[in-house]
Amino acid sequence: MIRIAPSILASDFCRLGEEAADVKAAGADWLHVDVMDGLFVPNISIGLPVLKSLRKATDMFLDVHLMIDRPLRYAERFCDSGADLVNFHVESDTEENIREAIETVKARGKLAGVTVKPGTPAESVLPFIGLCDLILVMTVEPGFGGQSFMADQLPKVTRVRELIDRHAPHCMLEIDGGVDENTAPLCVKAGADVLVAGSAVFGKADRAAAIRTIRENIEKT
Ligand code: DX5
Ligand code: ZN
Repeated sequence: MIRIAPSILASDFCRLGEEAADVKAAGADWLHVDVMDGLFVPNISIGLPVLKSLRKATDMFLDVHLMIDRPLRYAERFCDSGADLVNFHVESDTEENIREAIETVKARGKLAGVTVKPGTPAESVLPFIGLCDLILVMTVEPGFGGQSFMADQLPKVTRVRELIDRHAPHCMLEIDGGVDENTAPLCVKAGADVLVAGSAVFGKADRAAAIRTIRENIEKT
């Protein structure tokens, strides 16, 4: 089953609880929560207090994508604030600290993942793959919603799929950035099983129709 995870970055933050309820009713599987610190990426979004409020407002699975510098410092607090899965960028700290961040999340009974930016090779997930529940491959430079899908990342998605099948078959493969009704089938063909979609879902007036079209187009391929 392919999971669709709308990114709240493209939602109306004044009405976050209603926005979550709307995409849940529209057939979304997870909610993707983009945390940006203005250091690791050139943008600032939301953090722990908003996650805490969102946790009270919805029972949806909260997939937290940390785009922050040295995330180990916050791993425990994101778990305690309501994340179901916490994603760490492999570029955001040393291998040792990323490993410790993953272990911290797992010790709290939550799922953990690592994320790679477009310029980072597939093999950089290898030190973590055995510890992870999910690998996230970015198909835009992290920092902003609404960017164009980087089709040149698809061979890397296929390569990460191979690494998962060989080393950690239980691991999920998620794609984030520019995923819409046209690019979703390409992602699935390359081996993805979780698709983040910000503008392609929250940016549309009829979220149910948007999710339905994505699923239909995936099935057609
Ligand atoms: C980018 C974020 C994405 C973003 C996706 O840094 O990690 O999750 O919200 O937005 P779209 O789907 O609009 O590219
Ligand atoms: Zn994201």
